[in-house]
Amino acid sequence: MTSTPSASGAAGSPGVAVIGYAFMGKAHSHAWRNVAALHPGAPGARLQVLVGRDADAVASAAGQYGWSESATDWHAVLERDDIDIVDVCVPGHLHAEVAIAALEAGKHVIAEKPLANSLAEAEKMVATARAARERGVHSMVGFNYRRVPALALARQHIAAGRIGEVRQVRVSYLQDWLADAAAPMTWRLRRELAGSGALGDLASHAVDQVRYLTGHEVTAVNAMTQTFVPQRAGESGMEDVTVDDAAWSTMRTDRGAVVSLEVSRMASARKNALEIEVYGSTGAVRFDLESLNHLDVALDGASTFCRRLVTDPGDPYIDGWWPPGHVLGWDATFTNQASDFLTALAAGQEPTPSFEDGLAVQRVLAAIEASAAQAGSCVEVERGLA
Ligand SMILES: NC(=O)c1ccc[n+]([C@@H]2O[C@H](COP(=O)([O-])OP(=O)(O)OC[C@H]3O[C@@H](n4cnc5c(N)ncnc54)[C@H](O)[C@@H]3O)[C@@H](O)[C@H]2O)c1
Repeated sequence: MTSTPSASGAAGSPGVAVIGYAFMGKAHSHAWRNVAALHPGAPGARLQVLVGRDADAVASAAGQYGWSESATDWHAVLERDDIDIVDVCVPGHLHAEVAIAALEAGKHVIAEKPLANSLAEAEKMVATARAARERGVHSMVGFNYRRVPALALARQHIAAGRIGEVRQVRVSYLQDWLADAAAPMTWRLRRELAGSGALGDLASHAVDQVRYLTGHEVTAVNAMTQTFVPQRAGESGMEDVTVDDAAWSTMRTDRGAVVSLEVSRMASARKNALEIEVYGSTGAVRFDLESLNHLDVALDGASTFCRRLVTDPGDPYIDGWWPPGHVLGWDATFTNQASDFLTALAAGQEPTPSFEDGLAVQRVLAAIEASAAQAGSCVEVERGLA
């Protein structure tokens, strides 16, 4: 255990341990550090311990991000009385192990998406979360795009009936960081570590948005997956890529809508393009994450879109941020997420999205994989537990 000079966080606030200190560990640290400043009235958090495997590297990250301490043994961290919240920011193969152990140790848990690498793991996580809930111990899965103000506003419009009956959804999530065949091997390309490729990484967000925005459940899918570059350079020479690079699916919902989904980490020149269009009987909404402060709306029978800057007082999540037009960034989604999580805990309520929501997404991803393995034939989405 190493102490850092820049201890941060309010005494009396729940103590947080983040497991993993790289991409998501940094994004979540930023959120825990700033949540009380940006969300007046929301409880703060005490940045107690940042956990990783390399003692020097995690100590350096802890100092940079504002943690009181760093550690290399997450099991020992779960035994500490000064830790109330465990935040799981490690690769997918560890989500179930860390989250289940933390819940059983009486810690509230936020786990990054996708919930797990397999349906079996996700089901076990849900069962553990349910038992923990009975003891007042809560959990949440980190679908942070639910906290984009424009998407939260889109959901409000759809729930209020302002686009009528939802008929069609188009959702794509395109990135290009694997487009270069010379890009090296990473844990994200190994099935045993990542579970799947663009599916778990990107389609998990996309499917969650379909559920979140429309309130529909996906019931059946036809799908195709593709691995364009089957081998990549690893530490020991060329290694097999064992996950998908891209996936496509058409899906039916329980309320008669049809969804088309496309995800790829090989879409040249696209960086982080989560694009969502929802078409109803009397209107539509359209969103692009690379322009995340905007929502295109055609409401109440309007026949053309108009562009709305979602930074006004009263817009979802805006209170506590900046004056109108002083736009928010991608990092705000994590701060808003931390605020919702802490507020729910303070009220003794289960935060959303729950592990059940994570499992529901996982079931759709499993159906997509099954359909792709059967040459795109229709596969029904399993139900149960969620
Ligand atoms: N919500 C989002 O938008 C979003 C974006 C990216 C990643 N993610 C998810 O976040 C999770 C982490 O992804 P990332 O991008 O931060 O990965 P990363 O490779 O950047 O970081 C992984 C971290 O886990 C640590 N780690 C790995 N094995 C460990 C072990 N056995 N014990 C302790 N620490 C260990 C690594 O040291 C590293 O700090 C994944 O589940 C991923 O799907 C979510």
